[in-house]
Amino acid sequence: ATQPAPTGGTPPASETLLLGEVSSLTGSQASFGVSTQRGVEMAIKEANAAGGVKGKKIAVRVYDNQSKPEEAAQAATRLVTQDKVLAIIGDVASSNSLAMADKAQAAQVPMVSPASTNPAVTQKGDYIFRVCFIDPFQGFVMAKFARENLKLDRVAILQDNKSAYSIGLAEVFAQKFAEMGGKVLATESFAQGDTDFRAQLTAIKKTKPQGIYVPGYYNDVGLIARQARELGLTVPMMGGDGWDSDKLFELAGNALDGSYFSNHYSPQNPDPRVQKFIADYKAAYGNTPDALAALGYDAARVVIAAMEKSKDLTGPSIREAIAQTKDFPGVAGTITLDENRNAVKSAAILKVGDGKAEFVTTVNP
Ligand code: PHE
Repeated sequence: ATQPAPTGGTPPASETLLLGEVSSLTGSQASFGVSTQRGVEMAIKEANAAGGVKGKKIAVRVYDNQSKPEEAAQAATRLVTQDKVLAIIGDVASSNSLAMADKAQAAQVPMVSPASTNPAVTQKGDYIFRVCFIDPFQGFVMAKFARENLKLDRVAILQDNKSAYSIGLAEVFAQKFAEMGGKVLATESFAQGDTDFRAQLTAIKKTKPQGIYVPGYYNDVGLIARQARELGLTVPMMGGDGWDSDKLFELAGNALDGSYFSNHYSPQNPDPRVQKFIADYKAAYGNTPDALAALGYDAARVVIAAMEKSKDLTGPSIREAIAQTKDFPGVAGTITLDENRNAVKSAAILKVGDGKAEFVTTVNP
């Protein structure tokens, strides 16, 4: 595919500083995009109320990728070639971010993913950043929790073969769990959007696991959990950040009670900075922010702070400033970007019960 020209090289001409955002506002992962967008919007409102950047107001052009990588790539191209945005925020699902990254990199427009955890995303180039941890850490966290806290010896894995995130996370979990002396009995797979998981769950049940690792997205996981329980598979499930959505509990009912997942943030964090964010967000949108809202807010604030520090608001100068992000006070943890443009942060483990997730513990890198 042809790549966009390096539009990031020119300083902005307009009075308003325009950012771009690509989000899954509709489609199978819609709750990811809706939450992220609210977080981004809140950060921009706050920055504008405090005077904007270099005396100019900030605006954001948001494109919906319908939860599809092809749409994400097109939206990123539109942002850099037509809208000539100064930086891009997005996306959540790693497969979408992977599709966008080549466009941003070629255009020399910095891209900051709020929540994509697959390592390959930032390996796309030096203009690609993220404000979250990566899956080699996330997979380790749950493998360790499964071995040491849940005392599991034998587990099965059910992964989404259409998601770079799911494949990568399953692989790390399996490797770490085995290194810690556990045994992975079976790895089954599905494709995002499937509705019948009974064949895979039946195969898993035959191996008699003590737990099942399901690193998928909430919409699939909700159905998987229900069908597992219907088949008499009652052992706890474990997952990653992809479970994070209020929709998970609507879809799963009580089927995930007693299950665990790793995440970026817990609204139960007593830190006053986090509690202020939650109160402001609730006042604006009526619900408690999830991890995506928190990470969208953090990603936008990192970009805005870098714009302020940048020499001339060109892509290269904003890129340079983002790369220097250190001890940045995010609401989903303090952000320091390493030489690979990834944030080094702790993870939270949450337990599902009674239609909600409760904070269990924090695991540091
Ligand atoms: N980490 C997931 C991915 O890379 C996206 C995600 C982040 C989903 C946080 C939910 C919460 O695809």
